[in-house]
Amino acid sequence: MENIKKKRFETKGQMVSYFLKGSVIFFSLSIVASLLVTFFEFIGPKIVQYTINYCIADTVTENDSVPIYIIRLMDALGGKDHLKTHLYLIALVIVVIAVFTALFRYLYRILNSIASERLVERMRNKLFSHIMHLPFAWHSENHTGDIIQRCTSDVETVRAFISEQLLNLIRIVIRIIIAMYFMIGINGFLSIFSAVFIPIVVLYSCFFHRRISKSFQKADEEEGRLSAMAQENLTGVRVVRAFGREKYERDRFVEKNYHYSNLWIDIMKLLSAFWASNDLISGLQVMVITVLGAVLCVQGTINTGEYIAFVSYNAMLTWPVRALGRIISDMSKAGVSIDRIMYIMNSEIEEDKEGAIDVSMDQDITFDNVSFSYGNGTDEVVRGASFKIEAGKTTGILGGTGSGKSTLMYLMDKLYDLPSENGRILIGDTDITDIKTSCIRKNVGFVLQEPFLFSRTISENIGISEKELDIAKVRDAARIAALDETIQSFNKGYETFVGERGVTLSGGQKQRTAIAQMLVSRPQIMVFDDSLSAVDTQTDAKIRAALSKEIGKSTVVLISHRITTLMHADNIVVLDKGRVREQGTHEELLELGGIYKRIYDIQMQGT
Ligand SMILES: Nc1ncnc2c1ncn2[C@@H]1O[C@H](COP(=O)(O)OP(=O)(O)O)[C@@H](O)[C@H]1O
Ligand SMILES: [Mg+2]
Repeated sequence: MENIKKKRFETKGQMVSYFLKGSVIFFSLSIVASLLVTFFEFIGPKIVQYTINYCIADTVTENDSVPIYIIRLMDALGGKDHLKTHLYLIALVIVVIAVFTALFRYLYRILNSIASERLVERMRNKLFSHIMHLPFAWHSENHTGDIIQRCTSDVETVRAFISEQLLNLIRIVIRIIIAMYFMIGINGFLSIFSAVFIPIVVLYSCFFHRRISKSFQKADEEEGRLSAMAQENLTGVRVVRAFGREKYERDRFVEKNYHYSNLWIDIMKLLSAFWASNDLISGLQVMVITVLGAVLCVQGTINTGEYIAFVSYNAMLTWPVRALGRIISDMSKAGVSIDRIMYIMNSEIEEDKEGAIDVSMDQDITFDNVSFSYGNGTDEVVRGASFKIEAGKTTGILGGTGSGKSTLMYLMDKLYDLPSENGRILIGDTDITDIKTSCIRKNVGFVLQEPFLFSRTISENIGISEKELDIAKVRDAARIAALDETIQSFNKGYETFVGERGVTLSGGQKQRTAIAQMLVSRPQIMVFDDSLSAVDTQTDAKIRAALSKEIGKSTVVLISHRITTLMHADNIVVLDKGRVREQGTHEELLELGGIYKRIYDIQMQGT
């Protein structure tokens, strides 16, 4: 199997770093670019400080020693007296710095976009292949809409978190460190007042983060339910229309949607309170620094240049500290999404038992005392079934709806696992649990009771099992399935688009397409699961006649509740409520005078 992750992720971090493979380099470069942005942003106030103190105010004190390289730089620009009268030179330096800031900001954005798109691409690919390899049973347990929501909305949340919040977190921490470094350099006492607010905001945010994460989870699950419902109604739109259920379905949707929106309103209420109080704290902090700084400046502890630089650095700190709070609260949302994605990634894919082998499928298939129930605690739908499907022969399985016919075939195709205490299914002498799933699937052709066609052309649908479309093969198969004429009658013939925004095929046409689909690959074992139920008796007979010529040495299983469909089979198994009641040829079963005979009599009435 290509590149499919088999190990479980133990932690969220493990999964995130798995997804990050390939984009880490871009994220790292974008961090470097953003550090350069920060660096250029931070030298601005310094230049203003030195200009004021050294050139304009002339108040250079011992403890405000201007670094020698600054003096050299200023001398290079013409010396302090020259600069005092030519301040535009300083302005030019500031413009140059601004240009560099812009340049690196631009690089940061580009690198960050590349990184985050690569990340989402990988996430989507990995999720898709994982989902494709999950067992059939998993798919019947999980709602399509919900899975789609996990693959779109949750993926987007994680992307936003990693590419925006997480990177911001790194930038913010660095910004705080640099700002604190400069501020302490100016005045340690004042810096304490500035710094003391940081832990307050962080602790408050963490506390809040705990409170709100449950609400995010609820909202996410509700969104999943809503998508599932919308998806179901879209796929089932015909049923909804046919039964005039629009109002009922709309009301149900409106109710769910209302509930979902309310969840968000509640969350937003909490968040607003959080952000508002967070802003209040930041505002207080700015006020304290401005006032206290002014006092120190008046006292002469710091000079004007230092005061202005300090206030600028403090302002640069306000945004990150505020954002820090927001990021911590966003973490809850991302955490929930990561969990929801991890649910998919940690669902176990279909895997063969160790040492599973390929076997020749040209052998008898034996059902040995097979019992099965879907899920825990539900009733058994197959009860102690024992019979043989002989190689190269045709076996019929007759039974009413719900008698377990399809289930038997699903078990044989390993779509569901048969627990070892529930009997055995053997191919030749080998238990199917010891046979590679791929070997079985390749050799068992299934015409499903409810065939599914993709929104592609008819020929593509029929040739779906082929790597390269061979139109002659496709037409041949269609002919046997009594479908060729119908297709020819369409405007675009075999190129007609099926399904969404294409031609909608009738139930019988769909079934025949599915038959043609299987005939293209000519598998060793062909299962027709109620495949002719929607075609009229005449076409049924026509197809069967054509099939019997084509089948050759294939093993055929015909499943039906209609005796005419399978009366010519070499062996007929009569199934009733999961139990095998009778077996034999048509003649033998009639002779027996049991249920087969009774069903026969009923079905023959009026024909
Ligand atoms: N995925 C499933 N989960 C739970 N019950 C199922 C599932 N599929 C089928 N069943 C139940 O198992 C019984 C047998 O179904 P099935 O094998 O499809 O019968 P048949 O093909 O003879 O009509 C039915 O009662 C049906 O409701
Ligand atoms: Mg069935």
